[in-house]
Amino acid sequence: MRRAIPAPKVKLLFKDIEHLLRLAAVMLIAVVAFVVLRAAVVPKSFGQYGHYRGDAIAEVAARPVAHAGHEVCEGCHTDVVDQKKLGRHAGLHCEVCHGPQARHADDPASIKPPLPDTGVICARCHEANSAKPRSFPQVASADHSGGLACNTCHQPHRPKIQDQAKPATGAKR
Ligand code: HEC
Ligand code: HEC
Ligand code: HEC
Ligand code: HEC
Repeated sequence: MRRAIPAPKVKLLFKDIEHLLRLAAVMLIAVVAFVVLRAAVVPKSFGQYGHYRGDAIAEVAARPVAHAGHEVCEGCHTDVVDQKKLGRHAGLHCEVCHGPQARHADDPASIKPPLPDTGVICARCHEANSAKPRSFPQVASADHSGGLACNTCHQPHRPKIQDQAKPATGAKR
């Protein structure tokens, strides 16, 4: 008696195919989900100009301008400029300390900038820190100022004590 013809080799090869099909189905679902989600969440203008949202340019450009730029300030406050250029703060621009003041520059009569709190702004640059270059003037502000506002003694626009053109008062002028 002859045995039945053996099952073809191919069939043998695919006898455990079922678990592979399941895996393939899961991966297909994942790929479809990725494509659908990506289409849903990536903004339309992404890639318009490069690897960023094209609309972002128009949105940023539409925001109101906050900084006037020091040239604008200097046009009116020439007295401050004359003081400042004589000291080591010559290279610091107005809005570094005064904050963005475009609204004041556009309408100085009705918008008056608040005067900066020297305890905060001076310390931001001058608080002693061993990471700063030694040549940079720095103080441990609590010890140095004895709790007084920095502008009690220093004129912010020309801070060297020996340079004080006018007596330090600390009072706003
Ligand atoms: C068009 C002229 C003009 C421009 C530009 C201008 N200012 Fe003024 N600023 C004035 C006038 C006028 C006053 C009001 C003086 C007053 O009322 O005693 C003033 C007052 C100030 C004061 C004092 C506020 C106070 O309480 O005493 C500061 C600080 C100031 N400006 C900073 C700036 C800065 C920083 C800029 C640049 C971003 C700037 N200004 C641009 C005209 C100008
Ligand atoms: C290092 C920080 C700093 C810079 C830079 C600076 N200011 Fe000031 N400014 C101050 C501080 C602090 C006061 C407040 C002084 C006070 O209360 O006596 C002040 C006060 C003023 C005042 C009020 C009047 C006065 O003289 O006290 C004006 C106006 C002014 N600044 C304009 C300017 C302009 C314009 C520039 C740029 C050319 C500028 N400031 C740059 C810190 C600075
Ligand atoms: C944005 C940083 C910055 C702020 C804010 C700032 N300074 Fe300065 N300060 C400097 C720089 C930069 C120098 C010059 C350093 C140099 O020339 O190497 C300087 C120099 C000085 C000097 C040395 C002056 C000299 O001629 O020896 C004093 C004092 C001083 N600042 C005090 C102050 C006071 C007081 C304030 C607050 C009203 C202040 N600084 C705010 C950056 C700052
Ligand atoms: C009671 C007056 C007084 C007060 C308040 C004061 N200083 Fe001074 N400061 C001085 C004198 C005086 C000098 C110069 C003598 C010296 O070099 O120690 C000086 C020097 C400095 C120097 C230069 C240091 C150097 O190594 O060249 C810096 C920076 C400085 N002060 C920052 C500040 C800051 C920031 C504040 C506020 C937290 C402040 N000062 C408050 C009197 C004062």
